[in-house]
Amino acid sequence: MQSPKPRLVSGVKPTGRIHVGNYFGAIEQFVKLQHDYDSFIFIPNLHALTESIPSKEELITRTMDVVLDYLAVGIDPEKVTLFKQSDVPAHASLAWIFDCLVTVPYLMRAHAYKDAEAKGKEVSAGTFMYPVLMAADILLYDATIVPVGKDQKQHVEYARDIAIKFNNQFGTLFTLPQEKILENTAIIPGTDGRKMSKSYNNTIPLFATDEEITKAVMSIPTDSRGKDEEKDPDELILYQIHKYFNPSPELRASYAKGLGYGDAKKMLIQDIITFVTPMRERRATFAANPKLVQEILISGAMKANDIAMKKMFDVYEAVGLTQ
Ligand code: TYM
Repeated sequence: MQSPKPRLVSGVKPTGRIHVGNYFGAIEQFVKLQHDYDSFIFIPNLHALTESIPSKEELITRTMDVVLDYLAVGIDPEKVTLFKQSDVPAHASLAWIFDCLVTVPYLMRAHAYKDAEAKGKEVSAGTFMYPVLMAADILLYDATIVPVGKDQKQHVEYARDIAIKFNNQFGTLFTLPQEKILENTAIIPGTDGRKMSKSYNNTIPLFATDEEITKAVMSIPTDSRGKDEEKDPDELILYQIHKYFNPSPELRASYAKGLGYGDAKKMLIQDIITFVTPMRERRATFAANPKLVQEILISGAMKANDIAMKKMFDVYEAVGLTQ
């Protein structure tokens, strides 16, 4: 008998349009790894409530957008278990058990919580417990790898810590997960050179219109280097983004030799459009077939629930909640 494939779990929060950072940092890995891993790719819609609960309509739209984005980039629902977090109640039930296992000082060390605190924000209890729910997402399925960008490293470490703590106290039930962060794509820069992030307003949405792509690229700052003046391409924000769409040594060489910024921007706009065109077409096909998309989500939720409920039973049994 063939040995089962190792498990993979990951997801993108439905808090706005997915961007080029999400794509190269995480989503591209989902697509590439789907052949070799038993993949569980989900939409963490419960996590989308933590900063502030959006309107019902907005949440539904954003959630569906992420589903369409996944399908558009080439995630194959025949290979991947694709589902919404809220369709699998065990995520929240397991998070509760973990909530009672971890301490407040331990969670106070989380970067996301510390950042929110430092900005003087009134932090919701949901934001504080965020890493615990994420640990449940990962541990429920015994994932061995979690493909993410670098900003999620600490969260996967939390999941590992929680698994160890639970296993030590109640017997080994959980597999220890490992983050999979690719060196070249760990932090994709945004149009201002900082990490691309919805909260910095420096994103290039993956499914932007041609006009939006043009506007975003034109906003990338350039220095006063003259045309044909040599410069290390890695020092240019423009090239730091361009190389993901065109990794060829020729492009690098022409930047090094002083490719004019106006020409470089035109090329980048064209390269992005060429890159996303087939994805846009696939997205439109799925968007025109909402029944099929719903069927994919239902079948994903059934499979995920099957595994998650069994795991939850084992957890309840180990803790003493079944009798
Ligand atoms: P989220 O929605 O913020 O981001 C989704 C993925 O995109 C990666 N990413 C980046 N990678 C490189 N460069 C960037 N500029 C960049 N911006 C974002 C993120 O690292 C992430 O991999 N907490 C998660 C969602 C989540 C999850 C999970 C992920 C909930 N439960 C379980 C994995 C497993 C999040 O907020 O990602």
